[in-house]
Amino acid sequence: MLVLGIESSCDETAAAVVRDGRQILSSVIASQIELHKPWGGVVPELASREHLAKIGPVIDDALQRAGCRLDDIEAIAVTQGPGLIGSLLVGVCYAKALAFSLEIPIVGVNHIEGHVYSVALENPPVKYPALALIVSGGHTNIFHITEPGKYKVVSRTRDDAAGEAFDKVAKMLGLGYPGGPIIECLAAGGDQGRIRFPVAKISDGTPDLSFSGLKTAVARYMREHMITPATAGTEVSDEIRHLAAGFQTAVVRSLAGTLEKLAIKLRSRTLIVAGGVACNEALRASVQEIADRVNLPAYFPSKHLSTDNAAMIAAAGYFHLDRGETSDLTMTADISLRLQNVENIDDKLKQAKVKYRL
Ligand code: KG4
Ligand code: ZN
Repeated sequence: MLVLGIESSCDETAAAVVRDGRQILSSVIASQIELHKPWGGVVPELASREHLAKIGPVIDDALQRAGCRLDDIEAIAVTQGPGLIGSLLVGVCYAKALAFSLEIPIVGVNHIEGHVYSVALENPPVKYPALALIVSGGHTNIFHITEPGKYKVVSRTRDDAAGEAFDKVAKMLGLGYPGGPIIECLAAGGDQGRIRFPVAKISDGTPDLSFSGLKTAVARYMREHMITPATAGTEVSDEIRHLAAGFQTAVVRSLAGTLEKLAIKLRSRTLIVAGGVACNEALRASVQEIADRVNLPAYFPSKHLSTDNAAMIAAAGYFHLDRGETSDLTMTADISLRLQNVENIDDKLKQAKVKYRL
């Protein structure tokens, strides 16, 4: 089955043609990074306008690279949520119009499930139960996946997403946007043992994560040691490189350490790490070390498939289409879509009073 995937949840307009949920015939991504850079983060209004301008050409390009015509497409998979409402609506409306005119099925895909399926495109089949760390600018969750399509969140960030922490710390240090790749690059030239930041613990005993205290700890360190942020056009100081290394090490220790504990406790058979922060080599190396230690396969998407893309949406969409699950044309964008259909305790956790200790 040839599926056209469409993704527009945040700041990438993407389209891909994927055969049977595994073979990528084309994957085109129009990134808006340059557009948002001057503002140091994604401006939702600008994002949706840019999606409108790019969606047609990006889909045409994906079809052309795949060597097929619209008539060859057998189904459409589109990101339904979570994400920015204006951005999501562009993809969803375009996809519905295409499906209606071509008279083919459409399926709305959860963006986070898309990230989970990003590893299905280049790795051997996943063995269940699997443990998936989905770590990006907007989300940081660990899912216990008992069987395909069954997700239980076993660890979540109680405040910032890990990618968000990378972006905010980069901003504090006077570095550019997005912060993750810049911090990774500077950390490689710093000493990771020079400045040690502790890993946050949640007082209610859950294996949940927290990154906002770490961000505050970096700000405090800068104040106490009178470290001034980097300025454009000048060489970045060694102190900032050490800070970047110390911060990255703390984030990686927190993510990888939690993953290891849960993998042992839940007797996972595959480890999955996906989402924008999965581009980080230090995180990959640390998870690979764990995987070797506990004797499990660890699957990471290649960098093109780690950040937002439409091939992963087509792969997740194929899984649902293959089970006969489709959406009708009343389907619409849903910014608060959650990926959790087993024992959801989010509401209970929101009401609980917890303390964060660094
Ligand atoms: O998955 P993604 O493209 O978009 C969201 O769904 O959020 O992830 C973007 C996030 C940004 O916060 C970015 O700073 C982070 O992924 N990121 C990285 C790296 N590359 C991207 N974080 C750490 N190290 C990297 N190499
Ligand atoms: Zn994403």
